[in-house]
Amino acid sequence: MSKWFLLNFLLLGIIVWNVVHHPNIQIHVWIGLLGALLFLYNWMRNAVFETIRNVPNRRTKVRLARFSKKVVTIHRWTGNIAFLAIMLHGTLVIYRYGFTIYNVKMLVGVLALLALAFQVLTGWLRLYKPTIKLRYVHLYTGMTLFFLILIHMLL
Ligand code: HEM
Ligand code: HEM
Repeated sequence: MSKWFLLNFLLLGIIVWNVVHHPNIQIHVWIGLLGALLFLYNWMRNAVFETIRNVPNRRTKVRLARFSKKVVTIHRWTGNIAFLAIMLHGTLVIYRYGFTIYNVKMLVGVLALLALAFQVLTGWLRLYKPTIKLRYVHLYTGMTLFFLILIHMLL
């Protein structure tokens, strides 16, 4: 089992905790939650891949690989919808509070949005022209996003 399952469930817990304890839940919070959940769904692929690589039992390996193949077709759409949701989340937040770089939560949010745009771009490039380099860029941008979203939640 990959340590990423644990880390992902930890982030999921922090996200849900933040939303449940939000003093004034409005539409921008729900849409932020939707984007975060779609990101986590796509990022789980990393945990599944790591498990497939490390699991010693061949039958489990095959079962996980089959499951992974089934869910990959919607991966590109969940990734795109996550991007659209976060664009909307950011727009609604700026509409509500106004933009300022002195709000660090906002600043980290914008960095996460840029990383997400890059993640979607490398995803499509990878689909049409799979290279090792693109594979690693797609993977490490995903990891960067994980930590940016974690910081965005802790602020
Ligand atoms: C991948 C990117 C992003 C994700 C997953 C995300 C997710 C979330 C979630 C779930 C919340 C509600 C929980 C909480 O208040 O801690 C939230 C709040 C917030 N987000 Fe984001 N966000 C992202 C990008 C952005 C962007 C681009 C901005 C820029 C404007 C932004 C600004 C904010 C602000 C200011 C709040 C607090 C809102 C409030 O307390 O009413 N976020 N975000
Ligand atoms: C929230 C955005 C996204 C995240 C977090 C994400 C994450 C990931 C991860 C972790 C993997 C497995 C990495 C590996 O070990 O090789 C992967 C594979 C892949 N991603 Fe994404 N991705 C996102 C969006 C997209 C989009 C929009 C596309 C568009 C086509 C895409 C296309 C692909 C492809 C083609 C693969 C390889 C699939 C396979 O091996 O069967 N991704 N992605």
